[in-house]
Amino acid sequence: MEKFAVLGLGYVGLPLALKLSMKYKIIGFDNNNNRVNNLRKGIDDNKEFKNKEIKNKKNILFTNNHKNLKGCKIFFLTIPTPIDKKKNPDLSLIKQATKLVSKYLKKGDIVVYESTVYPGATEEICVPILEKFSGLKYNRDFYCSYSPERINPGDKKNNINNITKLVSSSSKQSLNKISKIYRSVIKAKVFECKSLKVAEAAKIIENTQRDLNISLMNEFTIICRKLNINVNDVLEAASTKWNFLNFKPGLVGGHCIGVDPYYLTYKAKKIGINPKVVLAGRKVNDSMVKYFSNYFLKILKKENKKNSFSILILGATFKENISDIRNSKILDLGRILVNKKCKVDFFDPHVKKLKNNLKIIKKPKKKYYDGIIIGVKHKIFKDMGFSKIKSFTKSNESVIFDLQSLFKSKEINKLVL
Ligand SMILES: NC(=O)c1ccc[n+]([C@@H]2O[C@H](COP(=O)([O-])OP(=O)(O)OC[C@H]3O[C@@H](n4cnc5c(N)ncnc54)[C@H](O)[C@@H]3O)[C@@H](O)[C@H]2O)c1
Repeated sequence: MEKFAVLGLGYVGLPLALKLSMKYKIIGFDNNNNRVNNLRKGIDDNKEFKNKEIKNKKNILFTNNHKNLKGCKIFFLTIPTPIDKKKNPDLSLIKQATKLVSKYLKKGDIVVYESTVYPGATEEICVPILEKFSGLKYNRDFYCSYSPERINPGDKKNNINNITKLVSSSSKQSLNKISKIYRSVIKAKVFECKSLKVAEAAKIIENTQRDLNISLMNEFTIICRKLNINVNDVLEAASTKWNFLNFKPGLVGGHCIGVDPYYLTYKAKKIGINPKVVLAGRKVNDSMVKYFSNYFLKILKKENKKNSFSILILGATFKENISDIRNSKILDLGRILVNKKCKVDFFDPHVKKLKNNLKIIKKPKKKYYDGIIIGVKHKIFKDMGFSKIKSFTKSNESVIFDLQSLFKSKEINKLVL
C-alpha cells in the first residue's frame, strides 16, 4: 500500500486524511500536540466527525513526529493561510510546512497544496523552498499539484463526496496520478485545470465573488433602511426573476470569505493593478458590525427610553451549525455592545467558552432581555421556534433582531433587515 502524508489536520486536512486512508496508508501530521492526542482518542474538536469515524480507521497514523513523514510519496498540505494585521497574506505556516516536507522529499514525489493561496504562490513561493532544502529539481525530480478545497464546514449536503474537485499539476504524469488518487477516494467529479495558477485563481474568485455579492446586499440593506423598506420583502420579490442571484445581507467572518479576497488584492497590487471593486466590497462587509450595532442600539433607545440594556445574542460562531468562533463578527458586535455599557449574554450550544469579557450562558433567562439578536442561523435556534425566543424578552418594548432572516414570522416586526 502506498504511503502518503497529510500535513495540517484541521477542517480541510482531517476529512482528506480520513478519505485517503480508505485506500492508502496515511501519515496524518499536525504540529499541534493537543490536536494529535485528541485525534488518537477519536476526538475531533471541530465536531465534524464522530468518535467512531476517526478511531476505527486502520490505515492512518496521527502524529506530531515529523520522522514519520519518511518514505511518503505524496505530501498533501492543508495548512492555514491567514492574513496579517495589515491584511496581507501570511504564508509563514505554509512555508514552514513546505520546508519540513523538503527534508523528506525524494525523486518522483509529488507535493499537493490544498491551502488557499493567490495565483502563482505555489510555484513562486513554495517550489523554491522545496528545491533549496531538498537539493532536488522541480519538474525533473519532483512535481507539485494544486487542488483547492471547497468544503463548507457545517454543511452536510455539500461535502467532500459531492463537491467537484479541481486538480492541477506541473506535469502530465503527475496530473494523471493525482487525479487518479482523488478519483479513487471521492465520488465527486474531478476537474483537471490547465495549470496550477488556473486552479489557484479559481478558488480565489469563488470566494471573492461570494464576498462581493454579500457586500452588495449589505449596501442595499443600508439604502432600504433609510427608505423605510424591509429588504427581505424586496429580495423575496426580486428573486422571482429567473436570473436574480439569491444572496442575503449579513456579517462576513471566519477565515475564508472575509480573508481570501485579500490574497487576490495583494497579488493584483504586486502587479500594478488597483483592485477597486474587490476592496470596496471588503470595506462594506467589514463595516457591517458597526452598522448593525449602531442601528440596534438606536431602535432599543427609541423603544425603551434608556441607555443601558440587557441583551441576548443567539449564536457566537462565524457561521451556522459549526463550533468555530475564529474571526466571528457576531462576537465583534457583542464586544461593541459591551463597550457601550450593555449587559450581553451569548447563548450558543456549539460553543463552550468565550474570551475577553464575553459571557456565554447555558440557558437564557425568561422575561429578562431588552433586546435579542438572532445572530447565527443555527438549526437549533430554528428548532427552538420563535415563540420560545420571544419568551426571553422582558416586555413588549423589547426588540428582536433577526440578522440572518431565520424566521419569517410576522411577529418579528422590529427588524434590522
Ligand atoms: N475551513 C474551510 O472551510 C476551508 C475551506 C476551503 C479552503 N480552506 C483553506 O484550507 C487551508 C486550511 O484551512 P483549515 O480551515 O483546515 O485550517 P485549520 O486551522 O482548521 O487547520 C489547520 C491545521 O494545520 C495545523 N498546522 C499549522 N501549521 C502547521 C505546520 N507547520 N505543520 C503541521 N501542521 C500545521 C494546525 O495545527 C491545524 O490543526 C487554508 O488555506 C484555508 O484557507 C479552508
